[in-house]
Parts: sequence; structure tokens; C-alpha cells
Amino acid sequence: LANGLGSTPPMGWNSWNHFSCQINETLIKETADAMVSTGLAKLGYQYVNIDDCWAEYDRDSQGYLVANGRTFPSGIKALADYVHSKGLKLGIYSDAGYRTCSSEMPGSLGYEKKDAETFAAWGIDYLKYDNCNNGDLKPMERYPQMTQAIMSTDRLIFISLCEWGDMHPATWGSKLGNSWRTTDDINDSWESMVSRADQNEVYAEYARPGGWNDPDMLEVGNGGMTNDEYIVHFSIWAISKAPLLIGCDVRNMTQETMAILGNKEVIAVNQDPLGVQAKKVRMMGSAEVWAGPLSGYRTVVVLLNRSVFPAQITAHWDDIGIPPHTSVQARNLWKHITLEREFVGKLRAQVSGHSCKMYILTPVSQSE
Ligand code: GLA
Repeated sequence: LANGLGSTPPMGWNSWNHFSCQINETLIKETADAMVSTGLAKLGYQYVNIDDCWAEYDRDSQGYLVANGRTFPSGIKALADYVHSKGLKLGIYSDAGYRTCSSEMPGSLGYEKKDAETFAAWGIDYLKYDNCNNGDLKPMERYPQMTQAIMSTDRLIFISLCEWGDMHPATWGSKLGNSWRTTDDINDSWESMVSRADQNEVYAEYARPGGWNDPDMLEVGNGGMTNDEYIVHFSIWAISKAPLLIGCDVRNMTQETMAILGNKEVIAVNQDPLGVQAKKVRMMGSAEVWAGPLSGYRTVVVLLNRSVFPAQITAHWDDIGIPPHTSVQARNLWKHITLEREFVGKLRAQVSGHSCKMYILTPVSQSE
């Protein structure tokens, strides 16, 4: 979307994956505090996004959305001021239908102008716009109204379309939003995570600065996967130029979780200015090579082992788009080491079960 936002994928936090409807203003404030105190904010995680269940069941007598009086008694404007005072941005959630997915609050269908004005007046910086209870109206009959309404306010608001990939939003999303969901909801399991990665990969060509494919939010730190599996999750989201929206309780993270979410080198891949989504370039049974270009003639490669047994996986220059005689330097982004020898033609590594290795390859010379 040509609103100047999302030149790199958005980074932040969202309440849904860990807290679902159990949210309140104290949680949001403590999360903002923790984003700063843990160092996540400095690493680029700037959005603090409230998901479903923040509003009263009904609109007020004039048709405006109202923050839930029990859980958000100070109102959303006060919360935005607080989040902004920490140098962060506030996101909110609504739905292109009559009620949101939880059904606990009204949707915005038919109220787009009112709601966009409300969000802008509150100081909202990001809108996630969901797809439930839509009366069987097509996306094109529901999403453009909100985008236009947001664009007519005087506030810059990142627009995240949450249509779950039903009507191939990658093919129209860039006109209406800065990101679009390509999948239905993730859960905190290996199977769910890798299948979302696969579904999202199909649309790689459509991702670019200003508009990104969204395979759903991160589950890293929620406890349902092993550390290696979470490393795979974060690596694949990073190379897929996916939004990096943390979905765990950042007030109570383990060191392992922080080491994954805080890996600067992997974050830099996600935020690379070239903005090209990596693709699966070779599959050998459960061994896969994913790769994509980065700025500075560099290439990012992930060797992914989907089986539970260890495997040797080889990335061939042919597959990853490096000229055959080019010799490269390889940087291992999870070990934070540059390998001593240089590589020509291919890079092979041993990868344990349900895990991956991730490298940046930088050309050093060209023979013949
Ligand atoms: C849908 C979305 C989720 C979340 C819930 C909230 O399922 O896809 O990401 O926002 O609604 O109810």
C-alpha cells in the first residue's frame, strides 16, 4: 500500500497467541515496559498490538466503538499515550464483518469511517483487520472501505489484512494493505508452523517493500516446540520477510527465547532493504534448501531438516542463484561465526532432526 509504511516487514508484539481474550490495559502497559527493558524495542520491535476483545459488546448510542470499561477503564487514547511515551507504537484490531472472530465485540463493516476516525483520534499506528462474520460478502466488498477510510484520516496507520489466504490476498493485498495473511491461524506446534511456512512460500513473488505476505504471528517462547524448532520458526519467518510479531509473554521470557527473538543477524535478514522473500529452491524428501537474495550481492540460505533424524543437506550454487565458479564466505547466523574456509559450487552441512542451519553467503572472488 502506498502509504509510505512497511518498507521493511513490521516488528512488534501481539496479544493473541499467548493471551487470546484475557487482555487488559495493565498487561499492555507491562508489555510495553518489557519491550524496552528486555532490549527488544532497541532491536526494532516497535509495535505493541492489541488483538481481539478490547471493546464493549455494543457500540455507544452514536455508533462509536467503546473500550471495555472493565478491562480498559482508562480508554485506548490513554494507552496510546503511554505506549508512545515509551517510544513504541500502538496497534489495534477490528474486523471486516458484523462482529469480530471472538464475537465479543462489534466489527467495522458499515462503520468504516467512524472507526477509522476513532482509531486516528486515539493515536493508533497499526490496524489488524480480520475476516469473521462477514455475511458472505466478498473481500472486495468489505476491505477497500476501511483502507479508504484510514487513508482519509490524517494519521499514518499500518494496515494488516487478516483474510487468512481464502481468496489469494497476495494477488490483491498490496492495493489495500501493508501485509496480508496467507494462511489460517497458527498454533504452537511444529506441524502447524511448517505448514504455514509452506502455504506462505507459494506467494513469494508478491512480497516487496510496502506489502508483505503474512504466515501469521510468532509462537516462539510459548512452550509447544523445542528450542531447535523455534529456531526454525524464526529463521523461516525472517527469510520469508514475514512480519515479526512476537506472540509470547515478553514479561517472562527465558534466556533461550530472548536469544532467538533477539538474534540481530537474523533480524537484519528480515529487515534487509532489498525486501525479497526467500523461496524453497530444492526438496530432497524431508531435506530442504530455502534461499533468497540480500542487498550487497549476498544470499541467505537455510538448510532445513523436516525429519526427526539427522541429515546431510547441500546447497548448490545452481539452486540458490550464485554463479557456478564464485567462491563465497559463509557466516553461520545462529553460531555467530564466519567459517574459515571459503566455498565454491556448494555448501554442505550436517543438520539435526527438526532443525536448521542458516548462512549468509558473500562472494569473495570469481575464478574463470
Ligand atoms: C482470527 C485471526 C487471529 C485472531 C483471532 C481473534 O482467528 O486470524 O489471528 O485475531 O481471529 O479472535
